[in-house]
Amino acid sequence: MKCVVCRESAVIDVRRANSNFCSDHFLRFCQEQMSRAIREFDMLSPTDRVLVAVSGGKDSLAVWDLLQRSGYEADGLYVGLGIDGYSDTSGDYARAFAESRGLKLIEIDLPTDYGYDIPTGARAARRAPCSACGTSKRHLFDKAALEGSYDVLVTGHNLDDEAAVLFGNVLRWQTEYLARQMPVLQARVGFPKKVKPLIRLSERDTAAYCILQGIDYMVEECPMSAGNKHLGYKEALNSIELASPGTKSDFYSGFLRKASALFRAEYLEKSPTGQDSASVDELTYCERCSAPSTASLCAFCRLVDKAGGSVRVEEGRIGSGLEDNAAQSVRITTRAERLASSTTREVEAGQ
Ligand code: AMP
Ligand code: FES
Ligand code: ZN
Ligand code: ZN
Repeated sequence: MKCVVCRESAVIDVRRANSNFCSDHFLRFCQEQMSRAIREFDMLSPTDRVLVAVSGGKDSLAVWDLLQRSGYEADGLYVGLGIDGYSDTSGDYARAFAESRGLKLIEIDLPTDYGYDIPTGARAARRAPCSACGTSKRHLFDKAALEGSYDVLVTGHNLDDEAAVLFGNVLRWQTEYLARQMPVLQARVGFPKKVKPLIRLSERDTAAYCILQGIDYMVEECPMSAGNKHLGYKEALNSIELASPGTKSDFYSGFLRKASALFRAEYLEKSPTGQDSASVDELTYCERCSAPSTASLCAFCRLVDKAGGSVRVEEGRIGSGLEDNAAQSVRITTRAERLASSTTREVEAGQ
């Protein structure tokens, strides 16, 4: 097996591209695929301050590494979810990566900062763990990006993730979700710009990228995700891909090129704000945390309440895009600042 570029011996085959690569040319291939996605969807500009949501897994560490190598100013954000036997280790991988490269990692810890963890919070709120987890992560990602005045929030979602979500949305014809399934979501009041630069790389690619680049990552999947329907969709797509390489990327890229705008047009007609089915009149701000919301309390604050949590807040606010609506701020620190910090105080979420 020879590298299609230099004819040296290849270390990996990328069947959907009908190509084998040596280590150097595979790393270059990954960089090019990311740059192409960034250009095609106008994801980032060179001067953007970028916040990368880092789980300690292969995708988010790969995208942080790739962005940094491409010259972007990119800090990391890790959210500790309090999942036994998983969160501590995944945090260690994120921290080790940041420390090895002298990068800044912002850490938020659900049990410490909000008084609940995903397993008990989900049980108390009678929600599936992944649903409670998604609500928590989305809220904390948005908040951290706005409070840190970042231009854009990056996640490590890859081709397999996006194709599986698309598959699920198509199977049930969830047209509203289809309208919003974009690799770029523009900033709106209360929401940062969000982008997914790895949509042209598969899970296998990001794992190989990390191994070849010497990046240690959390291999185990989240124990709470067992039985998650997206894992089933991934398996189904993988067996189709095995028989017919390239189908997965054709499915997803074809959707973006040919179908996405149609769903979007229909959705924007119904919901001019681009919010979840909310008309302009319905849109308001959470009276506790000031996040955009369709009710007096946002989904995150309702979850914190149901989970019996509390919000740990800091005096003053770190630079925010939401000053006008700010009721309180969460504590966002680097690990070093966290250890040195003595200014936090506990405030009951009900206050
Ligand atoms: P997942 O929802 O686990 O498939 O993760 C999708 C993306 O969300 C990852 O690639 C990360 O960018 C981000 N992410 C997931 N979990 C965390 C976490 N605990 N802290 C920070 N970012 C995360
Ligand atoms: Fe969210 Fe597992 S990472 S439930
Ligand atoms: Zn080569
Ligand atoms: Zn709220």
